Amino acid sequence: MSAFTMAASAVGVKVTTTAKRASAKRATAKASSSAFSARKASLNGVSLAAFAAPSVAASKSSQIRALRSAVFAAAKADRSKADDPDAGKGQRVMIIGGDGYCGWATALHLSNRGYEVCIVDNLCRRGMDDSLGFNSLTPIRGIHERVRKWKEVSGKDIELFIGDVCDYEFLSATFKKFEPTAAVHFGEQRSAPYSMMDRTKAVFTQTNNVMGNINLMYAIKEFAPDCHLIKLGTMGEYGTPNIDIEEGYLTVEHNGRTDTLPYPKQGNSFYHLSKCHDSTNMIFCTKAWQMRTTDLNQGVVYGVATEETMMDPALINRLDYDAVFGTALNRFCIQAAVGHPMTVYGKGGQTRGFLDIRDTVRCIQIACDNPADKGEMRIYNQFTEQFSVNELAALITEAGKKIGLDPQVINVPNPRTEMEEHYYNAKNSKLQDLGLEPHLMSDALMDSLLKIIIEYKDRVDKSLILPGVNWTESASVGQQLEKAEKVKA
Ligand SMILES: NC(=O)c1ccc[n+]([C@@H]2O[C@H](COP(=O)([O-])OP(=O)(O)OC[C@H]3O[C@@H](n4cnc5c(N)ncnc54)[C@H](O)[C@@H]3O)[C@@H](O)[C@H]2O)c1
Repeated sequence: MSAFTMAASAVGVKVTTTAKRASAKRATAKASSSAFSARKASLNGVSLAAFAAPSVAASKSSQIRALRSAVFAAAKADRSKADDPDAGKGQRVMIIGGDGYCGWATALHLSNRGYEVCIVDNLCRRGMDDSLGFNSLTPIRGIHERVRKWKEVSGKDIELFIGDVCDYEFLSATFKKFEPTAAVHFGEQRSAPYSMMDRTKAVFTQTNNVMGNINLMYAIKEFAPDCHLIKLGTMGEYGTPNIDIEEGYLTVEHNGRTDTLPYPKQGNSFYHLSKCHDSTNMIFCTKAWQMRTTDLNQGVVYGVATEETMMDPALINRLDYDAVFGTALNRFCIQAAVGHPMTVYGKGGQTRGFLDIRDTVRCIQIACDNPADKGEMRIYNQFTEQFSVNELAALITEAGKKIGLDPQVINVPNPRTEMEEHYYNAKNSKLQDLGLEPHLMSDALMDSLLKIIIEYKDRVDKSLILPGVNWTESASVGQQLEKAEKVKA
């Protein structure tokens, strides 16, 4: 019995072989998709033509092996330059939502590599925490202090624009002042449970996200037509279809005709639907205004440490663990660290794509360095591994035991409306073809995330750990208040 299976059975989790199958499939997919990339091959002066029409199977496979090594060597050479202090020289990158979890880590990552960076943020995320009584596990500093500390630590400036992208006058002024060559848009309300809390938050989520994105596209058109829009979408836009999930587009044959169309979207909350609307608006504007756009359908991000955010305690990133903003793996790790059973929603077969925060920042750098052509909308699936909720719990159990914890699992009623057992196979080779080298959810990583969490575990408010928002009970604010009063009485 493998350590994985032993750990899982110790907590009563039924482990299927899906993880093993998925991992084998990923290894094969990674090798083969990269090997045939003509773009990469040409980087190393290797031409695919040299491999055309092989006469025997044996020579074909040795040629493929040679090409594959050339491809990986080229990708590696690319990556080594990506960390040079002047790797981003000449690029001016506006990070919208740069005070948030992904945005802060990205701003520092790019700034450290010679990109000129500015942050645009209206700090509404901090306001949401205040109004709901939540707090980051890690003690994050105010944005002004963060930026000052970064200058002290690195010698680099990050310009700060505090304001709302839904305010077009403000956004226009920032565009005129900063003149970005790329705009990375993280600045949206990003929690599915928040969007399902009540009608007001559903409307806020869609207004904030859709309007902000439209404003941004107008600002690019009006003030910086060459600027590359890099927009954060989510893997959740695809839902859980019973077929493979492609990277953005699907070739369909219908009544004898064939077309390549945007992959069908099936958002499962008002938040996910806001992202679907954003994507549709981007497809339209990209064509109509000949914009350069990249839509990154990101998986669930985990981890807290990047090279830069760990350079000084004042630079530390946020780590959410409440039931509204906390993502699955971060929440499970915190539950395990404080001795609370990991709360698996329903049967736990829900499967999603995941990635380390260190890969998020690298993916954004890759997107900046590979701008879409005018009139082209690139869509990448930005995740590195897929796991079911049960598999996550089993991995954390195994890692936790190694550092003396005794993680337990409980299955709680699922507050969401979603399939708890389903087919899931999403493609994710495009970013790896461009040089992404994934950090895997290995034991070492789990240990390091758990260790950071243990350092701050006295800050955990246990009342925030339990599931909070029920999809079917979402209602108007008035009804929610009445319900709360009844519960109190
Ligand atoms: N964190 C994840 O696991 C994850 C997964 C998939 C996709 N994403 C996407 O990545 C992006 C960033 O996510 P995150 O986890 O860093 O979120 P976050 O809430 O930590 O950060 C978002 C930031 O955007 C700011 N913001 C929101 N609306 C704004 C507006 N109208 N004007 C200016 N600033 C505004 C907030 O104040 C906040 O600082 C989001 O678009 C999210 O949908 C995140």
